[in-house]
This record gives sequence, C-alpha cells and structure tokens, in this order.
Amino acid sequence: MSSELAPAGVDRRTFVKTLSAAGVGLALSGAPTAFAEAIAPRRRFAIVGVGSRHRMYQMAIEKDYVAHAMLVGLCDSNPGRLEVAQRLSAKNGAPVPPVYGPADFERMIKETKPDFVIVTTMDSTHDDYIVRGMEAGCDVITEKPLTNTAEKCQRILEASRRTGRHLRVTFNYRYSPPRTQVKDILMSGEIGDVLSTDFHWMLNTAHGADYFRRWHSHKKFSQGLMLHKASHHFDLVNWWLGAMPETVWAVGKKEFYTPAMAKRFGLKSHHERCHTCPEKGECGFFMDLAASPDLKELYLDQEHYDGYFRDQCVFRPEIDIEDTMNVMVRYDNGSTLSYSLNAFNAWEGYTIAFNGTKGRLEHTIVESTYVNGTDTVQGGIAENGVTTRLIPLRGAPRKIEPWTGVGGHGGGDKVMLDEIFLPDAPADKYLRASSVHAGAASILIGVAANKCFETGQPVKIADLVPGLGKPTYAPMPSRTGPLPMPEANARRV
Ligand SMILES: NC(=O)c1ccc[n+]([C@@H]2O[C@H](COP(=O)([O-])OP(=O)(O)OC[C@H]3O[C@@H](n4cnc5c(N)ncnc54)[C@H](O)[C@@H]3O)[C@@H](O)[C@H]2O)c1
Repeated sequence: MSSELAPAGVDRRTFVKTLSAAGVGLALSGAPTAFAEAIAPRRRFAIVGVGSRHRMYQMAIEKDYVAHAMLVGLCDSNPGRLEVAQRLSAKNGAPVPPVYGPADFERMIKETKPDFVIVTTMDSTHDDYIVRGMEAGCDVITEKPLTNTAEKCQRILEASRRTGRHLRVTFNYRYSPPRTQVKDILMSGEIGDVLSTDFHWMLNTAHGADYFRRWHSHKKFSQGLMLHKASHHFDLVNWWLGAMPETVWAVGKKEFYTPAMAKRFGLKSHHERCHTCPEKGECGFFMDLAASPDLKELYLDQEHYDGYFRDQCVFRPEIDIEDTMNVMVRYDNGSTLSYSLNAFNAWEGYTIAFNGTKGRLEHTIVESTYVNGTDTVQGGIAENGVTTRLIPLRGAPRKIEPWTGVGGHGGGDKVMLDEIFLPDAPADKYLRASSVHAGAASILIGVAANKCFETGQPVKIADLVPGLGKPTYAPMPSRTGPLPMPEANARRV
C-alpha cells in the first residue's frame, strides 16, 4: 500500500462501496432531503476536508454558534474520516450531516444547499474546491494557504471575478490579541513609518518535525513550508505594514531532516514510518499513533482507505521540502523585510522588530508545544510568552503590557470565529477579515521564494500573477509627512 494519499477523485461506485462498508448509509438513502427540511433558517455550511483542522469549524457550527449556523454536508476522499466526523455531530447532539466523496461535491451542494463551503483539505486541493464551490453558487471560506502555485492562484482570482462570489482566507494569526496590538501600535504612528522589518520564526522539533512526517513533507502536496507555514507569517507582515510585496530573494535548504542526520543521531538508518520502526526505542522523533486516541481514530484506523501514513519517518530520503529558509522582500512602499524560518529549533515562536522613523518596536512570542491532531492547543502562547517593547529613537524603552486571549492561536481562533459566525459582527478598525487578494499576496511571496531557491534569481510578484489587486488595509502612518526632530542629547539605549 502506498504511503501517500490516494489521488483526488475517487470514483463514486468505489466511494459508495467503501462508505457502505464503513457503515455510513446516510448519504445514499435520500436522507439529504429530509435533512434539508429539518434545517432552521440559519446560515448553512458544508465542509470539505474532515481531518484535524476541520474540527474547529465543526465544533463552532454545532456547539458555540449553533444558534446562527448549521452543518449541512461533509465531503472528503476518506470515508473513514467522514464517519468519524458524523460521529462527532451525533456527539454534539446536532443533526448528522450527509457525506460525499470528491466526485460528488457538486451533488452535495445541489442537495444540501449550503451558503458557504469551508475548505479544509490538503493544500494542493484548495483551488479545486474553491473554484468548484464558487461556480456552484457558494461563498467560500478557506484555510490558509489560499493555494500553493501561481497558476492555481490565477485560476481562483479568475473564478472569483467571474462568479462574484466572496472568498475569505482564515488568517487566524491576525486576530490573536497580542498581534492585533502590534497592528494597533503600528497604526498609531508611535514608531513612525516602518522602513524595515526583521522577522525570525522558529519551529521546534515537536511541531516542526511533524511537518516532515505528513503530506506536508512532499512539495506536490504542500509546496513546502514557504507556502504551508510561512503564508501565515507573510500575511501578518503584509497586513501589519499595509503593503504589497513586490520583489523576493531567497535561499533554502534541507540539512536537518535527512538520512545522514539519522545516522549522526546514532540510528542505523532511516525507516518507512514510526508504527513499524525497528528502532523506535532509540529515536527521539518517534510518534506513537496508536497511543493517542485522537490520532488513532483520525489516521491510523483510516489508513486502509487511502494508504496515508501520518507518522512517516522524518529522516526518509523522499522528503523534498526545506527545513532552513531565508527570505528578503521589498514592498511597494519601499519597506523591506528580512525573514527566516527554521524547523528544528529549541523553542517555538518568533521574534520580530519593526524599524521605524520614530523608533523601534520589538515583539516576541514563545508558543506552547503543539502536535496536530492531539488535544494540545494549536498556536497556543506559553505562560508569560509575549514580550513587546517600544524604543523611541532617543529615550528610554517602554515595556508594553500585552493584550491577551485564550484558546487556539493565542486567542485568535475565537475572535475570528465570532466574526465568521455571528450575525452583525462589529466593524473592525484593523480590517482583519482577509480577501482573496490578501490570500494571494501572502502565498505569492512563498511561490517566489520557492522559485528563487531553484534559480538563485530575484522574483517579481507581478511576473507570477499580473495585475493582482491590492487588498484593503487600514490606514498606516504617512511615509512622506514631517517628523519631529529627535531630541538632542536625549538618553540613547
Ligand atoms: N490556520 C491554521 O492555523 C491551520 C492549522 C492547521 C491546518 N490548517 C490548514 O487546514 C488544512 C487541513 O489541514 P489538516 O491539518 O486538517 O490536515 P489533515 O491531513 O488532518 O486533513 C486533510 C483532509 O483532507 C482530505 N483530503 C485530501 N485530499 C482530498 C481531496 N482531494 N478531496 C477531499 N478531501 C481530501 C484528507 O482525507 C483529510 O481528511 C490545510 O490546508 C492546512 O494548511 C490551518
């Protein structure tokens, strides 16, 4: 059995057979009609991709926002995971939604009439469902990254123009209180206009290593961490600065998650996967899928449907994504960014410094340890993990008390879900709701970096997707207006 995901588009007959074998009869029995009749006039959501991330949305729809939302259909290429999602609906006391395979996505929309499709499939398939969803008359909410190639991005932009449907990319990091606070300070003009930014993101050997076990470890599925992970970070910078990326330079390599490193750590060799590994007792990267009820139910128990192993060896030679990346970006307003991403660090989180004409803003977040698919908090912030400091050009530094929140992504998930699911969400002065253009701007830096890894040449964003519109950003301080003369002889830090 292949250790990779089965290709999209499992034919209906096979899918129906496997659903029946899995005891999932609802999709086949005319139940959608009865199901539709039972629906109150709440906004209707269908979810495509029922892996780990989709759970946040299913829980939100069926529990926290049940007065305003309803889950009407589920789609995935793995019948076993669909059944797990149906069981979750039953556990939530919600109507159990009908399930569909990839080939029946349009049928799902026809039968269940969702207002919105939420896309939480693997990255390489986002474009397919975004375009099909919009063409079938739905608005779309997609997980990041919007997509992962320039061609797919162009296709989405064209479909969005053609259909007039709305598309939102769920950039939850924008909503986490300490990161919103950074935006607030930048908007206030206290450090003037930002001429350059130094940004360094660290992934540790728990969460960071996990990208090398899963589908993310193959460019054909993820296009690497420049798209899968850094699109979050590039979006933050684009939004923080209120600017559009123009030109990108980058270098990237894989030097940690390699067969040679397995030997340097004292193993005899790399292996296929943890579950059957002959050296599991010796490997500090061993992941025990069978020991975690969540991981077992979601992945191990569903392997026989698609042959996908969630615990592939992090040292296997087939991995073709980078673990060490450095990127420089020039923005349309002249501002520059120096960014790095390393996936084998001692701690997880980031440091960022904005160098402004009136001062410097330094901001660090240490994240708590997280493993996807378990009950650890995604993007959670470690205790006392936020440090923000403002240093005027001349004068004493000021420590800033961080804004706080609770839950996934430093409290960002909750704020974002309120905006998505509550009717009449209040106006947002930070304009955090992300459009198709912001989604495109974030991924195109990653696409350009990947290209630069190969060619060594700078890449212009406009050469990847010509005529990309600028997202609407909140107003930022003037880059040409008068500035107060720094005080002579004032204390310097
Ligand atoms: N915003 C965030 O912080 C955040 C966090 C985690 C994941 N994500 C995003 O969520 C998405 C899903 O990630 P995940 O961790 O849940 O992965 P996962 O592997 O747990 O789930 C992916 C699901 O997609 C299904 N799938 C694959 N190909 C398909 C196809 N062609 N048609 C239908 N279904 C298909 C798989 O069977 C699986 O159930 C990714 O795009 C990821 O970038 C975002």
